[in-house]
Amino acid sequence: MYIVLGKSGYIAKAIISELKKRNLHYLALSRSDIDYTNFKEFQNFYHINYNSPSTPTKNSKIINCAGYVGKPNVDACESNKGDTIMGNVVFPTNLANHCSTNSSTLVQISSGCIYDGYDKDFSEEDPPNFTFNNGSFYSGTKALCERMILKHNPRSYIFRLRIPFDHINHQRNYLTKLMNYDTLVNVTNSLSHRGDFAKYIIDLLEQNVPFGIYNLTNKGSVSTEEVVDLIKETILPNKVFNFFNSLDSFHKEVKAPRSNCILDTSKAEKYINIRSVREALEDSLSHFSIF
Ligand SMILES: NC(=O)c1ccc[n+]([C@@H]2O[C@H](COP(=O)([O-])OP(=O)(O)OC[C@H]3O[C@@H](n4cnc5c(N)ncnc54)[C@H](OP(=O)(O)O)[C@@H]3O)[C@@H](O)[C@H]2O)c1
Repeated sequence: MYIVLGKSGYIAKAIISELKKRNLHYLALSRSDIDYTNFKEFQNFYHINYNSPSTPTKNSKIINCAGYVGKPNVDACESNKGDTIMGNVVFPTNLANHCSTNSSTLVQISSGCIYDGYDKDFSEEDPPNFTFNNGSFYSGTKALCERMILKHNPRSYIFRLRIPFDHINHQRNYLTKLMNYDTLVNVTNSLSHRGDFAKYIIDLLEQNVPFGIYNLTNKGSVSTEEVVDLIKETILPNKVFNFFNSLDSFHKEVKAPRSNCILDTSKAEKYINIRSVREALEDSLSHFSIF
């Protein structure tokens, strides 16, 4: 049994759709169903449903897609630090404790934005280098969340997502963002196809792979200019894209610094096949509808 928290969210929707596709038994919860962020309320709900044939919460895998990501972007986390800490650190830590005492498994959605720089492709073993002191407040909370979860419940999964995209026009889709921003910054990054990310998570969970952290981006990396070229080749041949002259001029426009990095996916690739970022981008753009 899977329990998905944060059901109205962008990533939760892809995971729910993957669970549905496979006919796996799941229960998806939104704060509008029960306020699972109120820990007493969540525990009451959990115990009422423990062993119930329709919603057996015993031995469940709780996929926590809930979090405070800042809208319209992570700059909002700089001015809402309390909500960011509560949503991204306190709540998942409580959940980790809950899972360790209730025979359930925590599956936490994390982020690759805890790394910055191109000295190497970052593996799960590398300590975060883009957190509270030099990164954004959001990235700081995501790094702290990983540490707290593994400290409180090492029998958990942490799956790292990075810059999601797919074929569906949506304000959270990286491709939609590139098509709509006035000016772009040319940087190289790993990216995660949203549906692939959901599929890979369920593949790994169904195989009961060892607990721990997994980088789950598509294979390889791509620069903004390369993605723009693909967009022009496929759907917007006449659109003019403008770029900042430098990363510094971009950083003057935003409140929080942004991370740029490449993640090493070889740990997950021991268990699953991961398609390349280029293939996933071409696939998404070939089905993309801008209307
Ligand atoms: N999107 C990205 O670019 C990205 C990249 C890397 C990692 N992630 C991680 O992926 C996870 C899901 O992100 P997402 O992009 O799906 O975000 P999202 O669309 O904002 O969804 C998050 C969901 O969390 C729930 N929630 C619980 N407490 C909340 C609070 N205080 N404020 C706002 N929402 C709250 C809400 O669902 P209900 O109201 O239905 O309960 C909300 O829809 C997060 O852990 C995020 O850090 C996202």
